Amino acid sequence: MSSWLINGGNRLNGTVHIHGAKNSALPILAATLLVPDYCEIDNCPALSDVDAAMDILRHLGCRVGRKEHTVSVDATVLSGADIPDTLMREMRSSIVFLGAMVARLGEAELSFPGGCELGPRPIDLHLSALRRMGLQIKEEGGRLRCRVERQMTGCPISLAFPSVGATENIILAAVTAKGTTTIFNAAKEPEIQDLCRFLNACGARIAGAGESTVVIEGVKQLTGCRHTVIPDRIETVTYAAAAAITGGSLLLKNIQVEPLQACVPILEEMGCQTTAWKKEWLVTAPPRLRRVRSVRTLPFPGFPTDAQALIMATACVAKGTSVFIETIFESRYKHVGELMRMGANIKAEGRVAVVEGVPQLSGAPVECTDLRGGAALVLAALAAQGTTEISQLQHIERGYEAFAEELQQVGADIKTVAR
Ligand code: EPZ
Repeated sequence: MSSWLINGGNRLNGTVHIHGAKNSALPILAATLLVPDYCEIDNCPALSDVDAAMDILRHLGCRVGRKEHTVSVDATVLSGADIPDTLMREMRSSIVFLGAMVARLGEAELSFPGGCELGPRPIDLHLSALRRMGLQIKEEGGRLRCRVERQMTGCPISLAFPSVGATENIILAAVTAKGTTTIFNAAKEPEIQDLCRFLNACGARIAGAGESTVVIEGVKQLTGCRHTVIPDRIETVTYAAAAAITGGSLLLKNIQVEPLQACVPILEEMGCQTTAWKKEWLVTAPPRLRRVRSVRTLPFPGFPTDAQALIMATACVAKGTSVFIETIFESRYKHVGELMRMGANIKAEGRVAVVEGVPQLSGAPVECTDLRGGAALVLAALAAQGTTEISQLQHIERGYEAFAEELQQVGADIKTVAR
């Protein structure tokens, strides 16, 4: 296992090229199962979660390759309809393969996704929607055994919560279903829009992606296409927060600005200057950050839950008190304890966390608890006095490509040590 040793205090300055979005690449790779043809996915980030998705596709019989940031998938011939527990455990979001598997194969067997660091990860919305479309689902021994008599059948589906994963699973099950499916209260995240752009390029008939109501008209068959994954908006905010917390200035390239609309005002309230061009964003920090009055996480286009830990890290050294309300996940404050080990002053109770900014954090040995919580610890370490050792890096490697190298090239003092 390796750790990172970070000596804090360097202002970060320079340019970072943002990678493709993990949360877009994953459902798009699942969607290639629907296409009995060859697809090429460009700007696919090199992440352990993407590797896990590629392993699942191979296990199901697909021919899968990677050349730099292009992943190719040939799903012409499939040879399996089950995902073993070992592969399911590698990536919690592998539940998104269910919709595509039952649409293409008429059956699927996979494990109930375990809980994760963010608390229980229920899939009731996924299962009730797929049952409405005709899927028979038996839950036994932690495994889901699913089959559909003839073909998935399109129907109107209302989601009690605009779940990203449930919206994706319904779309994947509906694209080649018999008839039309209408999703009410669908998730509107940019990654859903990217998935639908890929599917429509393969011949699907999806309207309303990115809005609350999505209409999918079933088609007979899809054909292969070449698609470029959108930039990762959470990686973008991560590096913006790195500039903010270190008092530096970073030019972020290959980005999309529109999806950041809920994050820009937060960084500007904290005193950052931000300037955006078509695909670039310049973020410059003030000498000392000001507190952010309140950050409430919401479904898109609200403030993203995945950025909560990142902004919390910056609030730890801001002047004043910041309040966080996490409305999406029931326990997404696991990073609080580790930030407090570095001298942060945070009180978390249920879904609320109150952060009293301190003049300086101190380096300490800390452990990543989850993907974004781990990134928050890195941000805190970049600003802390002294050395921080960060372990359990596998959490970070799920969602950030070359994180240490990117930070080093803009001035961070970060070394990888074997432990
Ligand atoms: C996706 O997770 C993302 N993951 C998450 O990013 C992100 O935090 C989340 O959407 C919210 O934006 C991927 O895209 C791979 P949800 P997902 O279904 O689909 C509850 C990261 O850091 N819920 O929108 O699992 C659920 O418990 C990851 O990159 C049900 O109750 O999110 C949660 O409280 C972390 N029943 C809320 O809805 C269900 O059937 C949001 O979940 C499904 C969800």
